Amino acid sequence: MAKTKTTFFCQNCGSQYAKWMGQCTSCKEWNTIVEEVIQKEEKRNWKQTTSTKKVNKALKIAEIVLNEEDRISTENGELNRVLGGGLVKGSMLLLGGEPGIGKSTLLLQIALAIPKKILYVSGEESQAQIKMRSERLSVANNNCLILTETNTQHIFRAIEEIQPDVLVIDSIQTLHTDYIEASPGSISQIRETTAELTKFAKETATPVLLIGHITKDGAIAGPKILEHMVDVVLQFEGDRNHSYRILRANKNRFGSTAELGIYEMQSTGLREVENPSEILISQKDDNLSGTAIAATLEGMRPLMIEVQALVSTAVYGTPQRSATGYDTKRLNMLLAVLEKRAGFRLGAKDVFLNIAGGIKVDDPAIDLAVVSAIMSSNEDDAIEQDFCFAAEIGLAGEVRPVNRVEQRILEAQKLGFHKIFVSKFNKINHSNFKIQVVKITKVDDVFNNLF
Ligand code: TYD
Ligand code: MG
Repeated sequence: MAKTKTTFFCQNCGSQYAKWMGQCTSCKEWNTIVEEVIQKEEKRNWKQTTSTKKVNKALKIAEIVLNEEDRISTENGELNRVLGGGLVKGSMLLLGGEPGIGKSTLLLQIALAIPKKILYVSGEESQAQIKMRSERLSVANNNCLILTETNTQHIFRAIEEIQPDVLVIDSIQTLHTDYIEASPGSISQIRETTAELTKFAKETATPVLLIGHITKDGAIAGPKILEHMVDVVLQFEGDRNHSYRILRANKNRFGSTAELGIYEMQSTGLREVENPSEILISQKDDNLSGTAIAATLEGMRPLMIEVQALVSTAVYGTPQRSATGYDTKRLNMLLAVLEKRAGFRLGAKDVFLNIAGGIKVDDPAIDLAVVSAIMSSNEDDAIEQDFCFAAEIGLAGEVRPVNRVEQRILEAQKLGFHKIFVSKFNKINHSNFKIQVVKITKVDDVFNNLF
């Protein structure tokens, strides 16, 4: 009998060790190293090949023929946009996201919409639960088969019978293979089951969509190698208390990672949001102080986002600074710039900042809107509703240029804004725009222009 071989894996980062340790030396996490049984490996010479299949031939670039039709449209505009077309045949896609964000809903909705034969394998929910969910989604597709199974050998048996065009697995952490002893969700199971599915995908040219759980710090649970093994890694994110969800590509072997999909979670499933700017700006009748609109870019997509600020006298000794959807450190930096470079006395004030819609913004071009919203709340003087902002602020209080400013200006113009504030250093051809473009150099200029 072959001797069973065990190795120690860090459950957080996937590092491999020969013996147990309390702390992983690679990711510095404590108590994450677990012993796992791995199959006995035979030592093989790399030149020997056991496969009887024909060997691939090396070709010159010019000799390679491109097949245009190797993508399957998902019938979902936002997902197609993020993928750069549709599902590439034989590709492995991994969808990560926090629990309850809507991963199963998204893939079930897609499975029910594609007019092909789909096998949806769930290791997390019963067939009845999936039926209930599909009733809410109110899309029915007789070509979509639901299987509840966690053993990959059983799944492959079902696949042989059904011959699906697309395979969906919910989730990779629930799968296990007979060839490995470790429990489902462990590093070696995840690696082995993914490898089996990858082999299936490549050999049959069937796209495989995997759902993956993420850990509390946002990484896909399981080893980083899972992300290396698949072709596309998508991340589904959003605030659970809000209805907007953003789908991003963290990795895409067949397209750009700059595209973004936006959805709204409704009682009837996920709705595609084609014009995100309109919904991210809260509808109001009268002018309120403390709000400013930023012309941001998320990936390739222009988004008009409302920034709300509240500045009030601190009740307790130490003033509070808090931000939702925006980096608190950056908020503190901007407050220091306002204090030092523009003479605002904010040291004894509480400052609260909120990005409307529950989304998170990294684009530095939002800085100018943040500063303007804070000034507006501090002065209790509203900013005109048809003004918007797109510039970064530097430590010296200088207003810095941002990338692709013309695209932002066009979006603002399209949505009916009359004035946009940008940095003086952005090169702009004014004759292209009907909207008034105000160029500023310093934070003080904004104040003089607005109030
Ligand atoms: P789910 O897809 O189960 O999340 P995940 O697979 O990422 O863990 O999404 C669950 C949430 O979505 C749940 O809290 C209910 C909500 N939801 C709706 O609001 N509308 C719907 O039509 C569906 C199916 C779910
Ligand atoms: Mg789920």
